[in-house]
Formats: sequence, C-alpha cells, structure tokens
Amino acid sequence: MRRCGSLLSAVAAGSWAGLLAHDPITTRITYSREIIRIFEKRCFSCHGEGGAAPMSLTKYEDARPWAKAIKEEVLERRMPPWGAVKGFGVFRNEEALSQEEVGLIADWVEGGAPEGEQKYYPPKISTDGLPPTNLQGNRLLVKGTVRTPGAVRLIGLEVAASSDLASVHIVAEQPDGSVEPLIWLRNFKAGWKRQYEFREPIALAAGSKIRVEPPARASFAIFLRAD
Ligand code: HEC
Repeated sequence: MRRCGSLLSAVAAGSWAGLLAHDPITTRITYSREIIRIFEKRCFSCHGEGGAAPMSLTKYEDARPWAKAIKEEVLERRMPPWGAVKGFGVFRNEEALSQEEVGLIADWVEGGAPEGEQKYYPPKISTDGLPPTNLQGNRLLVKGTVRTPGAVRLIGLEVAASSDLASVHIVAEQPDGSVEPLIWLRNFKAGWKRQYEFREPIALAAGSKIRVEPPARASFAIFLRAD
C-alpha cells in the first residue's frame, strides 16, 4: 500500500525517470548506511512523517521514487531551502549541505539508488534537522522599525512565519545613515521557524534602528549583546 502511494505521488510530481529506471546498481553508497544519515540531519525536519514538505523521505520505499528529483534539488541547492538570499548578510550556519554530502547523494542516485543492507540502518532516527546555531541571550522583537537599546552587537536572527513571505528585507541603520544588510528572506514558507547566525557579530552604535521592509506577518527576533 505504502509503495503504491509513493509511486502515485511520484507520478503526480512527474518523476517518470525515477519510476522507469531499473538502474543497475553501480555504487557502494546506500540509503541504509550513508544517505539516511544525511537526510536525518538535513531533510527530516520537513520531510519526516507529517512534516511541512509534501512527502516523507524517512523510508527507503518512499524516498526511492524521488531519487532523480532529490539529486537535482541538492545539486541545484534548492533543497534544503535556506529561505534567505545568499550574499545579503553573511551567516555562519549557511552551508546546509556540505560539498561532500551533495556528492554522496548525487553518486547514490547515479549508481541506482540502492537501499543497502538492513543491518546498517541507524538504530533510531530523529527529525530535528537543520544546522545548529549558538544563538542565545537577549532578544529584540522587530515589527516594522525599532530602535536598538544603546550600542549593541547583533548575533543573529530567528524568523517564524504565520504566512508565506515572498520577499522581506531586514536592515540596520546606523545613526550616521549608513545601512547594514541583515537578511533578505525570500520564499520563506508559513510554518517554518529558522535561526540564522551572523558569521561575525554586527556592531551598531547607540541610536541605530532595525527595519523590516515591508512589515510582514511573521515574528522576527534579533539576538544581541550589549556592547
Ligand atoms: C525547511 C523544510 C525543508 C527541508 C529541510 C527540506 N525540504 Fe525538500 N521540500 C520542502 C517543501 C516545502 C517542498 C515542496 C515544494 C517546495 O515548496 O519547494 C519540498 C520538495 C522537495 C522535493 C520535490 C521537488 C519536486 O521535484 O517537486 C525534493 C526532491 C526534496 N524536497 C528533497 C529534499 C532533500 C533531499 C532535503 C534534504 C537534503 C530536503 N528536501 C530538505 C521543504 C524542505
């Protein structure tokens, strides 16, 4: 039954290639050994049972029909979605999949996407996902524009959206008028909660302002330290 459901969803998504391929197995990389461990860290937070994404990847028979699409999504770096435009603000936890992880996934798919032996499955999988951050301390909630409480260093942000955010900029404006880009959220989906840690703390003089443009139906918390 399960297999039937996933085949149907693969057909719906147009993954014919994945369905028709009775590819010969030409790789030693397997779902049960390498791939499920990468997915656990990077994908299951959304592609778990009942997650934000349309399909679960936590079982081989559910993931297999999506193999070709998975390879494409990770090579194009569309998955896992970061939710922010690269280059506008610089983040420590930006690199969602390492080059090595992308390579393993691509080689697994090209090699026929085998399941591998049962004994290699991890004893237990978790669905927390996403690279960890070290964000803690004071939080400043921003809606529209707020003034910072004195001279501060910004450490990162937490974003949670109750509706989709097509495009939202958050910037800091120093008292001298210069503007620091903090983050540009794009295609950030309802239900996501994400932390972004700046690569280097951003120092703002007393009297600076933080602005959300345009004001959005979401919660933006800025983590900061007093300077
Ligand atoms: C933050 C949530 C999130 C994470 C993490 C995530 N995905 Fe997705 N994924 C989605 C959503 C939502 C969709 C539905 C389509 C869309 O919105 O782009 C999707 C769609 C897909 C698709 C289908 C694309 C198509 O052809 O329609 C594939 C394949 C995929 N994800 C693979 C992955 C893999 C592999 C990972 C981990 C490396 C991953 N995703 C991590 C949310 C996520």
